[in-house]
Amino acid sequence: MIEARNLTKRYGKLLALDDLSLDIAPGEVFGFIGPNGAGKSTTMKILACLMKADSGKATVNGHDVRTEGATIRRLIGYMPDFLGVYEDLTVDEYLQFFASAFEIPRKERKTVVDGVLDLTDLTDKRRSPVDGLSRGMTQRLGVARVLIHDPKVLLLDEPASGLDPRARIEMRTLLAELGRMGKSIMISSHILTELAELCNTIGIIEKGKLLFSGTLDDAYRKAALGDRVRISIEGGVPAEVAAAALEGDGRVMRVATNGSSLTVDLGPEVQSRHFLVEKLVAAGAHIGAMRPEEARLEDAFMRLTKGSVQ
Ligand SMILES: Nc1ncnc2c1ncn2[C@@H]1O[C@H](COP(=O)(O)OP(=O)(O)O)[C@@H](O)[C@H]1O
Ligand SMILES: [Mg+2]
Repeated sequence: MIEARNLTKRYGKLLALDDLSLDIAPGEVFGFIGPNGAGKSTTMKILACLMKADSGKATVNGHDVRTEGATIRRLIGYMPDFLGVYEDLTVDEYLQFFASAFEIPRKERKTVVDGVLDLTDLTDKRRSPVDGLSRGMTQRLGVARVLIHDPKVLLLDEPASGLDPRARIEMRTLLAELGRMGKSIMISSHILTELAELCNTIGIIEKGKLLFSGTLDDAYRKAALGDRVRISIEGGVPAEVAAAALEGDGRVMRVATNGSSLTVDLGPEVQSRHFLVEKLVAAGAHIGAMRPEEARLEDAFMRLTKGSVQ
């Protein structure tokens, strides 16, 4: 759906994009991750036909961003990192305005606006002034706005930035719903874990270069990160003794103890965890609980970027 090849962009002397290539398949939710200043917004503006690359090529559904802007603008919904301010408009008027800008026939506008209000959970707010909305609602309104013309592709630049935890979960739910609707979505963030549950694939960008692109599993494998398991030892033997039973096993990269709990890092290729139970039981440990740790996107990111984050 999106293909970028060798994009380069300079702002004066600053090389903002450095030979960047990426692919996003139809229906894919692609997380575009990188620190501030990495070049995420620049890439998205080029794909949205709002800015031209100095060299390289990009297409959206086969259309060239340099020459087929009018076609691409109907195919995509681009949500910039900062939304314009439209004082004195209600949510409803704001969306009606964009519906007319997209030349949606007057008769159909109400249905379209009702639909996007429902999807973004803003129906209750339709008569509220836009400038009185919370940050979370404003961001959802931004998503509502880019859905008006039912685009196939969404380019969302940091839609979850500045949201409190609750608003972030609401945004995540909304984006997951859009993914289920089959839209191809490129979503940028500098908050790594925000994207983990949402994306099929991720790309990591730093200083204008794409350092990695693939699935999260690929990222963990490439960073040579295996699963992490937390095990609480209820008794039998002290945690240190239990830990010693696991150390030296080729499948175990590292064991740390903290009180009565063990943190075990497995090798990247290790699939089964049953040997942990067997070894601990053989050592006389009573296992209270064993649970895998949350996805370690931050660790993978740090390794993939080798700490060269600006
Ligand atoms: N209009 C501009 N003029 C000059 N430099 C810019 C402009 N826009 C972005 N930059 C610089 O280009 C680099 C990439 O910016 P940007 O694409 O906004 O990164 P990100 O979205 O990942 O934070 C940054 O160093 C930024 O300061
Ligand atoms: Mg940006």
